[in-house]
Amino acid sequence: MSPEQLDNIALEYKKKVKIYDKVVKICCGTGCISSGSLKLYDRFKDIINLEGLAAKVLVKKTGCHGLCERGPIVVFGDDEILYQSVGKRNVNEDVKSLIETIKSNKIADKLLYKGDDKTKRYVSPLDIPFYAGQNRIVLSLNGTIDPEDIDEYIQRGGYRALYKALKMNTDEIIDWVQKSGLRGRGGGGFPTGAKWRSCKDAEGQPKYILANGDEGDPGAFMDRSLMEGNPHAVLEGMIIGGYAIGSNQGYIYVRDEYPLAVNRLSKAIEKAREYGFLGRNIFNSGFKFDITIFRGGGAFVCGESTALMSSIEGKAGEPRAKYVHTVEKGLWEKPSNLNNVETWACVPHIINKGWEWFASIGTQGSKGTKVFSLVGKVKNTGLIEVPMGMTLREIIFGLGGGIQGDKKFKAVQTGGPSGGCIPAEYLEMPVDFDSLTKLGSMMGSGGMIVMDERNCMVDVARYFLTFLVEESCGKCTPCREGVRRMYEIVERICNGNGDKGDIEHLEELARAINLGSLCALGQSAPNPVLSTIKYFKDEYLAHIEDKKCPAGVCKALIKFSIVPEKCTGCTLCAHECPVKCITGKKKEVHTIDQAQCIRCGTCYDNCRFDAIKIE
Ligand SMILES: Cc1cc2nc3c(=O)[nH]c(=O)nc-3n(C[C@H](O)[C@H](O)[C@H](O)COP(=O)(O)O)c2cc1C
Ligand code: SF4
Ligand code: SF4
Ligand code: SF4
Ligand code: FES
Repeated sequence: MSPEQLDNIALEYKKKVKIYDKVVKICCGTGCISSGSLKLYDRFKDIINLEGLAAKVLVKKTGCHGLCERGPIVVFGDDEILYQSVGKRNVNEDVKSLIETIKSNKIADKLLYKGDDKTKRYVSPLDIPFYAGQNRIVLSLNGTIDPEDIDEYIQRGGYRALYKALKMNTDEIIDWVQKSGLRGRGGGGFPTGAKWRSCKDAEGQPKYILANGDEGDPGAFMDRSLMEGNPHAVLEGMIIGGYAIGSNQGYIYVRDEYPLAVNRLSKAIEKAREYGFLGRNIFNSGFKFDITIFRGGGAFVCGESTALMSSIEGKAGEPRAKYVHTVEKGLWEKPSNLNNVETWACVPHIINKGWEWFASIGTQGSKGTKVFSLVGKVKNTGLIEVPMGMTLREIIFGLGGGIQGDKKFKAVQTGGPSGGCIPAEYLEMPVDFDSLTKLGSMMGSGGMIVMDERNCMVDVARYFLTFLVEESCGKCTPCREGVRRMYEIVERICNGNGDKGDIEHLEELARAINLGSLCALGQSAPNPVLSTIKYFKDEYLAHIEDKKCPAGVCKALIKFSIVPEKCTGCTLCAHECPVKCITGKKKEVHTIDQAQCIRCGTCYDNCRFDAIKIE
């Protein structure tokens, strides 16, 4: 393959698409597929064929567009019109009405994105606040290209960075990555260039290039969407890394629960081999490189670097002490360079546009952009990419549109089980590696869980401890036993059996677990507890001393009752109560049978007259 051949492929692709009047992009990321987008795609194709429009309208599948909350998403042209929730109620009707708009050159108002007040409608995705504040670099082709069509990736500039890199000196490439300021997107934020340099300088052959696509954090789906939506970007980054470091073999470790990512990556690898981007003598440079997919072991700890390598070797995915770094002795005791898939996908952009360009985005210590999955009690949940340094307020209230039901914002959990909860007083905080660490949380791989006044912070700590107790590999005692002890204490507090001194005991255990654990799972396991104690100590005290759960979540500590002065007798609560323990006639005050109430909170969430009180 030569650059001229790349140009030819791009030209041919352009010619192929030019004949169509309209391009219809249907999101076929996991989120939209689960809301029925594959059926939608098939219906679109059928009706287009039936109406004899196949020569005029190109219907294609894309990866995730980010706005999963409103899926299935359908976009016409290049960001011309975005349609949301298409086919959610009636596939045939929606498809027919969209095809009608193509024929009559009109817009289907009903399916447009609606603003908060439900009156303002947006046509182009670029105008929707969720997208308008983003800077999509890593995700620039997600939702745009067909991830299974290598020609389209090439037409959008794909594999040009690889060609350029192969003409560069390997030290120069590492220099560029170092000067760009790129830090690992997998959690720790380690400088990528420095890691590459150590691996290149390490003694021993062969060397291995590894991509971490394990993504075990609850609530996170950034890496999945990238692997599903633009797999070639990850491959291109890895091939460049392989050349720079002096490796001929790469492995992508993909979470076992991500079959679509495995499928799209496999197809991408096959095509890259066919086109000569993988294999022998890539771009006639004499460099050879190949990539193999390895499906994860199904445990959160398998994302840890040494556990991941053991898992690829066919052993149990357990971490080992890192007296010797994996860049020197990693996979099969050979020098190995592991980076997160998002880190790899940044590399082609740095080579294409230069390290100065990348370094000009972000903050002093954290360059470039970061992909986050914004979930929880926020209005627009989904996948976003923002420049490092954007404030939490800009992310949650700007892109996220604020809190569902306009409730009060309470905290945001960043960094998954290794991270912590950040309260409202830090909403103006810029989001970058160092600021989050300073607050006792972490960037992690980019999960952001937004919480409102109806989230109990002690219960949140219990949730993460439950996860970590299950996920601890059990190799070392402080983590195996200590995290379980922490869980037992927090569970007791939530059940109303907290004792004076429990908080101090938790803090003491946290210190011991942090100091004594072998890997970062145990070392960071106390973070969700410590950060909730730091910022929400009054909630712990209310549970322990007053035996009350102020947020109304911990079932043993709450009681729902109806305020007679406020109840209008609208009957909604009685209608929604799952155990039917609310009685009352229409337009009369209702009552709750406390003996039967399971304290689910449905009545509280549904009453429009503020007539249900939590005690
Ligand atoms: C328990 C645990 C789980 C981890 N899971 C992941 C993961 O799913 N994906 C990831 O990229 N890094 C994960 N990491 C971090 C990796 O060990 C490693 O630091 C990272 O893949 C390096 O890539 P980067 O420098 O590009 O961030 C995990 C770490 C720990 C301790
Ligand atoms: S800290 Fe926990 S997960 Fe890590 S090696 Fe020890 S027991 Fe296993
Ligand atoms: S929903 Fe509220 S106002 Fe309506 S009957 Fe129940 S408590 Fe009364
Ligand atoms: S809390 Fe749940 S079970 Fe209890 S009265 Fe309300 S809706 Fe019914
Ligand atoms: S999966 Fe369709 S928008 Fe995310």
